[in-house]
Amino acid sequence: MGFQKGFLWGGASAANQYEGGIFEGGRGLANVDVCPAGKDRNAVITGHRKMLEMDEEHIYPGVQAVDFYHRFREDIRLLGEMGFQAFRLSIAWTRIFPNGDEEEPNEEGLRFYEEVFQECRKYGIQPLVTISHFDCPISLIKKYGGWRSRKMIDFYLRLCRTLFTRYKEYVTLWLTFNEINMILHAPFMGAGLCFEEGEEEEKIKYQAAHHELVASALAVKLAHEINPENKVGCMFAAGSAYPYTCKPEDVWEALLVDQENYFFVDVQARGYYPTYAVKRLKKKGVFPVMEEKDPQILRNYPVDFVSFSYYNSRCIAAPGGNSEEAEGNLFKSAKNPYLTFSDWGWPIDPLGFRITLNQIYDRYQKPLFVVENGLGAVDTPDERGYVEDDYRISYLRDHIRAMRDAVEEDGVDLMGYTSWAPVDLISAGSGEMRKRYGFVYVDKQEDGRGTLDRTPKKSFYWYKKVIASNGEDMD
Ligand code: BG6
Repeated sequence: MGFQKGFLWGGASAANQYEGGIFEGGRGLANVDVCPAGKDRNAVITGHRKMLEMDEEHIYPGVQAVDFYHRFREDIRLLGEMGFQAFRLSIAWTRIFPNGDEEEPNEEGLRFYEEVFQECRKYGIQPLVTISHFDCPISLIKKYGGWRSRKMIDFYLRLCRTLFTRYKEYVTLWLTFNEINMILHAPFMGAGLCFEEGEEEEKIKYQAAHHELVASALAVKLAHEINPENKVGCMFAAGSAYPYTCKPEDVWEALLVDQENYFFVDVQARGYYPTYAVKRLKKKGVFPVMEEKDPQILRNYPVDFVSFSYYNSRCIAAPGGNSEEAEGNLFKSAKNPYLTFSDWGWPIDPLGFRITLNQIYDRYQKPLFVVENGLGAVDTPDERGYVEDDYRISYLRDHIRAMRDAVEEDGVDLMGYTSWAPVDLISAGSGEMRKRYGFVYVDKQEDGRGTLDRTPKKSFYWYKKVIASNGEDMD
């Protein structure tokens, strides 16, 4: 019993938070590069402060990140030592197409990922590749306004064709867009959207989302044509919405929040706009403009599996209540009085993980893949750089147990688990370095100082044991 044979254990990362080297290898500039750390970050990632170039006044943590670009061999060796079977990473679009609209790809960029995949192969690690993890070339934002333009579909598919063809012998697991529902909460970071004064933001967001959904379906088609072995998944930020109380108004509000998130997966996994979305988006006047062929495209090419991130559940109160607020993965909700919270105020809810797994599986009846889960915390290394991160072990243990219950007791069909993130990297939400998730400590401080040396934490040895026992030994 327990996890099926062939269950994939590993960890997940994203190019812009991990690689650095953004001015090397012929790489172009992307939206994610110009999201500064500090107080202006939120205005930039939500599209309310237009920043399409770097300035002197801000710090851009992605410039160096934690230098995976130069240290990938060392990092992958460490992943191999932990026994990883899967490593989720994303492609920096602008390494392959620096401006996004070139006819020919940049060989140096292609070569970089090829070397990464070759390194993974040495240790028997299967890459799970996110085609776009919050990644959009700046040049396409300047020329076309990012995903608000339908032209993006062709540029994205050009990228997909290049990747599917070039990496055919290395990669068969693909995700089209990371946390596609984040377009509603961080539209610049998610889709390169900047808003002008007086624009109808919601309309633009749903139009851009539609373009991504069509692009995602066409990517599934292309992936299957190029290699029938390819399996393509969608990816969304999950975490069930609980009603704050059993007051029907709270229950209703929680349902609306869930539907807002599931909308994307409903389209990608079932192949059509759900009726609740058609009704509501039309009523609000934000239903996207579609081409005649779009419904058929969505219908014909649903994803093979559903992947998601789970950090916490959400707790939703009807407007007008007096609940306290809690933080969360880029969106806030009411504070659940039954839970504890991380250093960043995110709720900790392992049973919520089991609930979420069940709800998603009930809804889609497709294989699931947990591609992010973990604890962002402040680590304090000793003089040798070693961190005793018992708090992280405890978070992961509780969540993996809940996941095992979902599989063993509830019958959820789960392909694998990649925790966020095996090696410390830059936070997407805040741009901070001190918010660490890794099994491996990286010597880099908030102000950029540090040797970038890697040191395994206590959780490194613990996770190694979990993997070796296929989730049986979690002590
Ligand atoms: C997800 C993203 O939203 O959560 C990752 O896919 C991100 O890119 C992760 O890093 C954790 O969030 P944060 O804000 O703590 O980095």
